[in-house]
Amino acid sequence: MALTGLDNADLKLILFGGKGGVGKTSCATATAIELSKNYKTLIISTDPAHSISDCLEQKIGNGIHFIDGNQNLAATEIVADQAYADFKKENEKELKNLLETSTNLDFEDIDDLLKLTIPGIDEVMSFKMIIDFMEKGSFEKYVVDTAPTGHALRLISSPIMLDQWIKVAAKMRWKYRYMITSFAGSYKQDKTDALLIGLKKTVKRIESLLSDVSQCQFIPVCIPESMAVSETMRLISSLQKSNVSLRQIIINNVMVSEGCDFCRERKASQQKYLDQISTTYPSLNKVIVPLFSTEVRGLEQLGRMKMSLFTVKNN
Ligand SMILES: Nc1ncnc2c1ncn2[C@@H]1O[C@H](COP(=O)(O)OP(=O)(O)O)[C@@H](O)[C@H]1O
Ligand SMILES: [Mg+2]
Repeated sequence: MALTGLDNADLKLILFGGKGGVGKTSCATATAIELSKNYKTLIISTDPAHSISDCLEQKIGNGIHFIDGNQNLAATEIVADQAYADFKKENEKELKNLLETSTNLDFEDIDDLLKLTIPGIDEVMSFKMIIDFMEKGSFEKYVVDTAPTGHALRLISSPIMLDQWIKVAAKMRWKYRYMITSFAGSYKQDKTDALLIGLKKTVKRIESLLSDVSQCQFIPVCIPESMAVSETMRLISSLQKSNVSLRQIIINNVMVSEGCDFCRERKASQQKYLDQISTTYPSLNKVIVPLFSTEVRGLEQLGRMKMSLFTVKNN
């Protein structure tokens, strides 16, 4: 089968994830190129080992860079810890105020505490950048090339982690608010409250986008090998628990040739994993991509990958 439904105008966000080295970047980039035929498309990398630049053979980095020769396709590479560092810098006063008004910590302890990260915040900040791009509305399709599984799962669960942090922070604030109200008779919201409310809104925006099946879809990429299949199964069950829409799976590096002993043996060894995926996920659309003789680098090779992903075939 081929990837289906991605051309639907309602579908805005498509995330690719899976084990390291299985072909996420190649599949995500080839998909973005295909979508850019009809839609203004932005491909976003949240993998710290950014490789869209290598794949497209064009320097990307942060900021939006249009791809040479394609007015409809742009790329950007998000650096998660930089996104958090920027957030901390922007909100330093409010974060300090939160701790000063709600704890007995002295200034030194507060500084030390602020050096520690807030659980889930790096990923939430990456996601916030994705949502900010989406809300600016400069593009019609957003394709995300995520880092290997653990990171993708943190990205998906980051709103839950941050929400727990906000709840504790809000409780601390509530005690402070109660104290002020009892002394002064009333309480006026300050910038720290506004920061917590803003973060809560971000969490809600991410949660509602991730669970909106018409707007968002996650596509796992896998190869027919033991470790990759086990990791994909864990990824899929986490996605299902988080109610993230999942309709299709890409199985990459599939040996098709039977022209030599090596090819035949490789093909036979892959078959049991292909069968395992088919029996475990009967309702998922399985998209088979052959193992090419060369790596997927540059527009020409990406074109080959795109053909495999989008040409209807019988598996
Ligand atoms: N079907 C394929 N045939 C041959 N090489 C492939 C195929 N898919 C990906 N590759 C190559 O495998 C390597 C890993 O692919 P990549 O897309 O970077 O994986 P990931 O993003 O999951 O780490 C790259 O060198 C890429 O060019
Ligand atoms: Mg990659």
